[in-house]
Amino acid sequence: MKIAVIGTGYVGLVTGTCLAETGNEVICVDIDAAKVEKMRNGEVPIYEPHLDVLFERNINAKRLSFTTSLEEGLNHGEIIFLALPTPEDEDGSADLSYVLNVSEEIGKLIKEYKVIVDKSTVPVGTAEKVQQIIAKNAQCDFDVVSNPEFLREGFAVDDFLKPERIVIGSSSERATALMKKLYNPFVRSGNPIIIMDEKSAELTKYAANSFLATKITFMNEIANYCEKVGADVDMVRAGMGTDSRIGKRFLFPGIGYGGSCFPKDVKALQKAGKNEGYDFKILNSVIEINAAQKTVLLPKIESYFENNLKGKTIAVWGLAFKPETDDIREAPSIDLMEALLEKGATLQVFDPEAMPNIEKRFGDKLKYSKSMYDAVENADALLICTEWSIFRTPDFKKLKDSLSRQVIFDGRNLYNTTDIEAEGFSYFSIGRRD
Ligand code: UGA
Repeated sequence: MKIAVIGTGYVGLVTGTCLAETGNEVICVDIDAAKVEKMRNGEVPIYEPHLDVLFERNINAKRLSFTTSLEEGLNHGEIIFLALPTPEDEDGSADLSYVLNVSEEIGKLIKEYKVIVDKSTVPVGTAEKVQQIIAKNAQCDFDVVSNPEFLREGFAVDDFLKPERIVIGSSSERATALMKKLYNPFVRSGNPIIIMDEKSAELTKYAANSFLATKITFMNEIANYCEKVGADVDMVRAGMGTDSRIGKRFLFPGIGYGGSCFPKDVKALQKAGKNEGYDFKILNSVIEINAAQKTVLLPKIESYFENNLKGKTIAVWGLAFKPETDDIREAPSIDLMEALLEKGATLQVFDPEAMPNIEKRFGDKLKYSKSMYDAVENADALLICTEWSIFRTPDFKKLKDSLSRQVIFDGRNLYNTTDIEAEGFSYFSIGRRD
């Protein structure tokens, strides 16, 4: 099938590349000429495991190409994906200007039937708005469908190629048939393509992300309470998670959720509710609790150093908002590092992928280390913010020799408390006995 993807951010790039992988001819459109040029030369603009291999293969097979011309993309594609940013407005709602401006252009440019697919995370009612804006100028038939994505950063290629479900909001049989044809190769294992109305599809995405953010936040509160009463959150998690109604996943407490999706989407749903006179009390709490959770280790660090962090050097392992990404948006490491800097600490930091992004944000306020072991050299403590695999089984002897005090503050519960204490470390984590 012939596909155009408008916007080559994270979602657009993964969507375009994976759709090319199943034999479709895909043109990706972006207004950033320099980025388009780089992609034409095979350069993947984001870090995402496995994407580079698929990218190169499909460019070489001429199934994947790039342009800055919206018109060229629209002439090529029968299905047009909108994968445009919907950043957070000052008031927390989703800024739809990119989606709506491109829709206006689409109306002027299309000459034959097209299915316009909203892939961006957009508030309920956006498909309707897009439909109306295109209809103002369109000289031909078209349909607008909502098709939210559920990709996780770090696993996006796998999630796209083997989705647990595809959600399609469509009120047109013609568009539904085309979307099913496009997605059937991805659900051969029997996972469902769920067809519903556009508004329900739009809300599904916000509801899913808000639920997951709530699940994590609930566990973070249980962890905080465990510390008060001397219970162990790992045990509680194991005990709860075996109930299939609860499930084992997404119950890991830590220093809060971050990233480009959960924080933005939870706030957008809260704001959208307010606009309709509906107060999402549960989301108000989730936002408040998560903000506090990001610095939940700070009192423990301060207390260990007797409220004097001036002149102390702290090594920080893991800066990205989660492992397998270079994304630092809303990363808990940022809040924690800012607080520590304010208290006068010196920070020696390391992350396998996110160093360039952190350097852009913090400049010369931090000391950037070449390896995880360089970061701990002569540091007074180790702080872990992201659970990259390489931090899971470090050379503890080397660690002990490098640190001037054998203390670890772990925001991701990487180590067994008994084992780490046997290694000779003082160990502070989340929701477990210190
Ligand atoms: C999330 C959703 O999982 C995807 O389904 C969705 O498509 C995507 O947002 C989006 O809206 O585009 P992502 O932001 O890549 O994906 O990251 P997750 O793996 O879901 O993790 C989100 C945050 O929750 C991270 O900060 C992570 O550290 C935290 N988390 C996750 C926990 O603190 N505990 C857990 O048990 C799981």
